[in-house]
Amino acid sequence: MTPAVHDPRTIQAKSLLSVGDLSSNATRRLLDQANGFAADMDAGKAFRDDLRGKFVLNMFFENSTRTRTSFELGAKLLSAEVVNFNEQISSVQKGESLRDTIETATMMGFDAFVIRHATSGAPEEIRQWTNTAIINAGDGVNQHPTQALLDALTYKQYLGTDDFTGKRLGIVGDIAHSRVSRSVSQLFGMLGATITLVGPASLMPDDVTPWNAHATDDLDEVIGDLDAVYTIRPQQERVTEGLIPSMPEYVSSYRIDTDRFARMNNDAVILEAGPLVRGVQMTDDVAANERNLMNRQVRNGVALRMAVLHSVLIGGESW
Ligand code: NCD
Repeated sequence: MTPAVHDPRTIQAKSLLSVGDLSSNATRRLLDQANGFAADMDAGKAFRDDLRGKFVLNMFFENSTRTRTSFELGAKLLSAEVVNFNEQISSVQKGESLRDTIETATMMGFDAFVIRHATSGAPEEIRQWTNTAIINAGDGVNQHPTQALLDALTYKQYLGTDDFTGKRLGIVGDIAHSRVSRSVSQLFGMLGATITLVGPASLMPDDVTPWNAHATDDLDEVIGDLDAVYTIRPQQERVTEGLIPSMPEYVSSYRIDTDRFARMNNDAVILEAGPLVRGVQMTDDVAANERNLMNRQVRNGVALRMAVLHSVLIGGESW
């Protein structure tokens, strides 16, 4: 008899599909644990054997540099074994369905799937087909919870607290087509920050009500009031028509250049998920400024993913 791939009578494995899965207590615990891993990395002693005997399958159906490699490095620092599924040389190219691919991987007995997919909601759908733990590494325009967590870790380290009450985060650029803008606004809001969405009408969501945020198309009007500016590149791979009618106009209105940076508060920071489109999102001098935290974000990405893997694989049954 073939064992059931998904038996609804069994307890669903602990997974992280969305920022909405996390309570604020669970978030703060994860950030604390990740902060410890980050300190261990800086001290050159991050390698440990907590996840020895655990097997993780990295399934990236969409391009990635930072997220894929940091999940792999994070897992290996905890002594988990990582197998990389490569869609381009997989049976997906022979027409195998997503469900059959997931059921096949499930039968092999991995402890967790790290999944990135171009379709919004794919991880939720996959959850119906498997009892293996799932970590969402970005789905379409929907969610990218580990990115928002590593951003919060970076800002927490900068502030010295995970209480963002009174802090004003501006998210600037392509809000509508970005999963990062959704996840970050939700998570920073949970930690107390107020959110301002900034971009041209064509890159704004039709309805900003669910975002619990102020929205404007005028960066210069708000930049002096912001404590952190998160720039989002135009998500060209998701936009079939030119939603930016004029790139020079976009750049003149939304790029963080020397002059705009000078008008920010003296302790305001820049956050950037990468990949950075240099010259469009910011000028090189702003990219290199020490109040641009993007390099720290990349490093924290490893520590944060260690904490998420740790929590999903051996951290108890639920968040
Ligand atoms: C982000 C993503 O893939 O959504 N990148 C990342 O994970 N580092 C942001 C982006 O691609 O703009």
